[in-house]
Amino acid sequence: MRRVIRTATIDDLSDIAEVEALCFPAAEAASSEDFKKRLLVYPEHFVLLYEDDRLVSFVDGMVTDAPDLEDIMYEDASLHDPEGKWQMIFGVNTIPSCRKKGYAGMLIHKLIDMAREQGREGLVLTCKEELISYYSKFGFVNEGLSSSFHGGVIWYQMRLTFDKK
Ligand SMILES: CC(C)(COP(=O)(O)OP(=O)(O)OC[C@H]1O[C@@H](n2cnc3c(N)ncnc32)[C@H](O)[C@@H]1OP(=O)(O)O)[C@@H](O)C(=O)NCCC(=O)NCCS
Repeated sequence: MRRVIRTATIDDLSDIAEVEALCFPAAEAASSEDFKKRLLVYPEHFVLLYEDDRLVSFVDGMVTDAPDLEDIMYEDASLHDPEGKWQMIFGVNTIPSCRKKGYAGMLIHKLIDMAREQGREGLVLTCKEELISYYSKFGFVNEGLSSSFHGGVIWYQMRLTFDKK
């Protein structure tokens, strides 16, 4: 089995939408239309993991100067600012049959490395309570309840801030 980690192109749209649907309940899953809008604007801020020809895990998010992750960002790809300070993380997904192999961790590390190389201030994500300790392992700090009501669920915002040189 060959494992490949790479950024996305618009050609990955159907694979990405399929993985999302396997990972999230319908109320929380981004639609194929949402991903299309994102992939047309910031494909280089998607990181994908393929096992042979099968997409099994991905992470994505826009870059913005706004310090907090807001629900509108999920839908409005025009808010992406290539020069922005913060790499947002919108989704972390691994298909059920490939979980607990460290795949999401590899992709999160890759996105962190990319954001550091690009001179960002750090990364911001929102997550459910049960994943706070998972993201803490990467250096994310819990900032408490997020303003998000995405999918009618309670979300916490977490931030990883790079040390200033
Ligand atoms: C969360 C998710 C991306 C992890 O993917 P993965 O490739 O299995 O991640 P890794 O192998 O790097 O890490 C696995 C760790 O995830 C954590 N984790 C995953 N789901 C969890 C849950 N429901 N509750 C608590 N911890 C959880 C655990 O710490 C686990 O570590 P363990 O192996 O020691 O138990 C995957 O479970 C998934 O796609 N879930 C559904 C979508 C989702 O909730 N995404 C996160 C949005 S904030």
